[in-house]
Amino acid sequence: SKPLKLGVAGLGTVGAGVLNLLRQNGDVIAARAGRPIEVVAVSARDRTRDRGVDVTGLAWHEDAVALAADPNVEVVVELIGGSEGPARRLVEAALAAGKPVVTANKALLATHGAALAQLSEAKATPLAYEAAVAGGIPAIKALREGLAGNRISRVAGILNGTCNYILTEMRVKGLPFDVVLKTAQELGYAEADPAFDIDGVDAAHKLAILAALAFGHQVDLKALHIEGIRNVSALDIALAGELGYRIKLLGIASQDEAGVTARVHPCMVPEASPIASVDGVFNAVLAEGDAVGRVVLQGRGAGAGPTASAVVADLVDIARGRTAPVWGAASATLATAPGLPMERH
Ligand code: NDP
Ligand code: HSE
Repeated sequence: SKPLKLGVAGLGTVGAGVLNLLRQNGDVIAARAGRPIEVVAVSARDRTRDRGVDVTGLAWHEDAVALAADPNVEVVVELIGGSEGPARRLVEAALAAGKPVVTANKALLATHGAALAQLSEAKATPLAYEAAVAGGIPAIKALREGLAGNRISRVAGILNGTCNYILTEMRVKGLPFDVVLKTAQELGYAEADPAFDIDGVDAAHKLAILAALAFGHQVDLKALHIEGIRNVSALDIALAGELGYRIKLLGIASQDEAGVTARVHPCMVPEASPIASVDGVFNAVLAEGDAVGRVVLQGRGAGAGPTASAVVADLVDIARGRTAPVWGAASATLATAPGLPMERH
């Protein structure tokens, strides 16, 4: 059967990971998708860079946005990053052209998700983003589809792999913050600007996406309390340990009669609690629904393989024609829902 033809923008950790996974598992992916999934065009900045992936024979676009107009490209995969610039222009151009988009870009979704959702609906063109939250954990599908019968009161979790890796390596191996951060960058876990990780902004982007899905309400990022791990010292971690706690960077969003509250900050977690043992690059996503009770998912939250796994899951859905509105319900509902106050903490 006819392959689904992709244009991939960004060939860094995630982009190269997606190309490699599509080759490595092409047979099972094709079986699940009902047809082969094939990359036909790519874009990155530096054509000479060795990416550990063969791009011979693929069309190369100097301008990523040109992928949206390439007649051979049916689906655009945006893996550049950033809430503005070429990533935003490409996603808007692709949706406007009626080409489905798969992205891992949480900064873009958290900042412009409502407008992009409206464009996606106006054009009846899917915008899929499983990889944007918690790497390889299927958190979006779990909230949107798996818990669709519930009123959700809380979503929370360890939402940044870089920070969890740093806190773990500091605690277990006694390594200095800067040394571990450098390793996290080398392993491809960190954002292009790692301040997004260590200052809690990346976790806030993911929390905003989870809250929009769970509560049908767009979170105002400016109203969130966001504190990262930059100031967590080895002494803090040791003292917490003496008291029977571990320090974890958590994102927590909840909804009750008073409204929605959302915050990101380091927390003291009792050693006996399940989330305390989620270590290294692993993330955990917790949801509480009125029918189901508590659901906790955990898995690798960053890196080439886990993130590519989530991107490919979206591609298989698109190949199969399984699509969902961006926020699980019509985006107009999200945009016009009665305003719930975002409290500062
Ligand atoms: P990288 O920095 O490794 O890769 C970014 C890629 O984008 C590079 O190949 C770069 O080109 C390319 N690029 C930058 N500017 C342009 C441009 N103007 N036109 C075309 N290509 C461009 O990032 P990651 O792969 O780590 O992340 C990609 C996205 O995935 C981000 O949104 C990130 O937040 C998200 N993400 C990342 C995860 C991870 O574990 N790394 C996990 C989940 C999501 P060049 O190589 O030539 O410099
Ligand atoms: N920099 C992010 C993290 C990548 O460390 O969690 C995954 O979204």
